[in-house]
Amino acid sequence: LQQFRPRDKSTPPVVFHLFPWFGSMITYGIDPYKFFFGMREKYGNVYTFIMGGRRITVALGVDGNELVLNGKLSQVSAEDAYTPLTTPVFGEDVVYDVPNHVLMEQKKFVKFGLGIENFKAYVPLIVGETKKYFESSPYFQAGSGKTSGSVPLLKAMSEITIYTASRTLQGKEVRDALDGSFADLYHDLDRGFTPLNFMFPNLPLPSYRRRDVAQKKMAQTYMNIIKKRRETGETPDTDMIWSLMNAKYKDGRALTDKEIAHMMIALLMAGQHTSSATGTWALLHLGADKKLQQDLLEEQKRVCGEDLPELQYEHLKDLTLLNYVIRETLRMHPPLHSIMRLVKAPIQVPGSDIIIPEGHFLMAAPGVTAVDPAHFPNPNTFTADRWSKKSADVDIEEKIDYGYGLVSKGAASPYLPFGAGRHRCIGEQFAYVQLGTLISAFVRELEWESVVPPPDYSSMVVLPAGGSEMRWKLRK
Ligand code: HEM
Repeated sequence: LQQFRPRDKSTPPVVFHLFPWFGSMITYGIDPYKFFFGMREKYGNVYTFIMGGRRITVALGVDGNELVLNGKLSQVSAEDAYTPLTTPVFGEDVVYDVPNHVLMEQKKFVKFGLGIENFKAYVPLIVGETKKYFESSPYFQAGSGKTSGSVPLLKAMSEITIYTASRTLQGKEVRDALDGSFADLYHDLDRGFTPLNFMFPNLPLPSYRRRDVAQKKMAQTYMNIIKKRRETGETPDTDMIWSLMNAKYKDGRALTDKEIAHMMIALLMAGQHTSSATGTWALLHLGADKKLQQDLLEEQKRVCGEDLPELQYEHLKDLTLLNYVIRETLRMHPPLHSIMRLVKAPIQVPGSDIIIPEGHFLMAAPGVTAVDPAHFPNPNTFTADRWSKKSADVDIEEKIDYGYGLVSKGAASPYLPFGAGRHRCIGEQFAYVQLGTLISAFVRELEWESVVPPPDYSSMVVLPAGGSEMRWKLRK
């Protein structure tokens, strides 16, 4: 009944709802963007909604992005918001299961393992895995003479993403293990990384038990790899396991094998859905625009050479249109629609008398500004070329070091698919290398057609609804 009482003017307006505990769970869950835009009309940029008994305050617009993503450590906490979801999946002592300053050190270790030398080694490996996939996966079978067919793209991209990420960042042993029981472990773990797990961290369901068993077995697999590498001294120096085996905290302590294993699981989960969803949306848009596909092929020839020699890391930065395609995909389809924090101390909304109370969850949705016509004209049209004229690039802004390297200080940007501030993504460059190489391989090998389906918001990332069918034929 609280919503019918006169509002205490100092707290944000509360979204009208009929059922107290459920609140707006259904409307938000079915289409968060429709909810964000609709409620913004009624209540403005800052409002509170109820979901599963939690009070969630949304802060929209560029100022909202800044308020949440650059919130003070004493006022907002990501770990308190995320840990019930992430610790059972990643394991203890990493990411949100440690104090923020430890996470900043862990992010620095990972960043160190994502340098240019590594990327140079990764591009040919990604090309190799993708070609192998075209030749031998049941969807393409180009190696057995098939020249055209139809593919459930989302499924295919999930497979290609995990094969290429494991062959490069995760290491050869993980890639080999994927052909065996590791794939099942991954699926069991993944089924424990859903919005349901976020809302209800401890339900007595079989999927929760399978998640816990898979986490332990997967961590053991990584620990066995590390042990073997230590014993034999054989370790490729371009993957993340190697990097983490050589990292030391500020106090001189090396990471334990368990910490390395848990960080590797965290990276697998952080990169897999975000990148495979982005790759799928990009290929769907290209399938709906033959001219853009052709333009990308011509760009490959112009930058790499008329006879298309194998793609190298050095080519990627000159493939401008390709990078615009990825950028535009992330504008229209940022994988994460909601970013959460827990409010630890009251926060005054700048320029207003509104105070967000302690105990609320604070939510940013940078995807709202990215499709707001105030920032991007014709926001619902996929226009890769818009990036050649207008740049919402935050790189030119003042930088700050939270401990894991320089990041842009300001979060008041309308385009933040990788977040901002201390929790900003460290996988952006890797994602661009992986996606750029994959899309290049598609453009060089295939021609394809598809329609762009509406979004489905029921999993952790925004996915195309339905099977996302793509019809392909080999290029002559
Ligand atoms: C954080 C997006 C790929 C690792 C984030 C955040 C976003 C994001 C929005 C901020 C979350 C928050 O503030 O709560 C993306 C997108 C990706 C991508 C759109 C691909 C298209 C990757 C990859 C990796 C990765 C490939 C690993 C190699 C991380 C890590 C964090 C992060 C470690 C930091 C979490 C923290 O400090 O709280 N990502 N990500 N991401 N991402 Fe990514």
